[in-house]
Amino acid sequence: MASSTAAAAAVTSLLPPPVGAERPVPQGRLLFRASRAGSRPLRLNPARHHGLSPAPRAAKAVEAGKADPLNVMIAGAPASGKGTQCELIKAKYGLVHISAGDLLRAEIATGTDNGKQAKEFMEKGQLVPDEIVVNMVKGRLLQPDAQEKGWLLDGYPRSYSQAMALETLGIRPDIFILLDVPDELLVERVVGRRLDPETGKIYHLKYSPPENEEIASRLTQRFDDTEEKVKLRLQTHYQNIESLVSIYEDVIVKVNGNTTVEGVFGEIEKLLTSSLDKKTEMVGS
Ligand code: AP5
Repeated sequence: MASSTAAAAAVTSLLPPPVGAERPVPQGRLLFRASRAGSRPLRLNPARHHGLSPAPRAAKAVEAGKADPLNVMIAGAPASGKGTQCELIKAKYGLVHISAGDLLRAEIATGTDNGKQAKEFMEKGQLVPDEIVVNMVKGRLLQPDAQEKGWLLDGYPRSYSQAMALETLGIRPDIFILLDVPDELLVERVVGRRLDPETGKIYHLKYSPPENEEIASRLTQRFDDTEEKVKLRLQTHYQNIESLVSIYEDVIVKVNGNTTVEGVFGEIEKLLTSSLDKKTEMVGS
């Protein structure tokens, strides 16, 4: 990864890549069908075949400042569990969680011009233009806390052009986690999702219900969490994911997101701990 100073200097001079610029995906690498539904011939190694194993010393090494911090990207279809897993990852590994969706919703909530424009695209389940998203995320990524503690990038990049905006700065993840959940489960997850505006915690009316009546009474629903809109979001996801898979193929790992929250986190934990260990070994060698 580029040094934070060099990258911070570069970010100010870089224009975002053209909106929606896409790289044609080589035939041999077609991993998903571009439009939804059904089976996806994903040629990725599941976590258990990644040759990774858990090891406890990695976290200690980071504490002692012996290894560079971990940098993680997490992707997946709408409601595949990215936000839920990010909360757990953040709590265990101390990474700075940067969610493109949350940054955009914050812009909407404060009524900025960017927020107003972004909402129009989010309403349609489309990607918000790079002119708004790219510098917003890069700016957050290059802040000192993310550089010192490591980052956990959630929902960015989502297209070839967004990934290239990071590649240009030499910013790459140690690992790219792709959550895999069958499409038929995603609608149910979306319509049942609720958020606690006070704590930011993500609930589900069936799978992760609120702990008590007081919390239940204040839960809110996202404006794009309808069956109709999630189908559009899903289409957008499949239109873009192939190009990301090809860019990050050396660090991408597919994780089964169709188990319990704890089960999914268990898989992710093994991967992250192992990644940290690898970094520690590199420092020691
Ligand atoms: P964003 O907010 O990122 O939405 P998304 O990608 O559609 O993902 P979600 O937040 O809906 O789901 P999640 O995977 O985090 O699932 P969660 O953990 O909440 O983006 C919104 C919009 O912003 C986009 O459509 C786009 O317009 C725009 N945007 C964002 N990034 C952009 C970018 N880079 N460029 C351009 N535009 C961008 O879980 C969902 C539910 O399932 C919850 O209720 C949870 O409790 C439940 N659940 C989670 N895990 C499990 C489990 N294992 N079992 C059972 N239930 C579970």
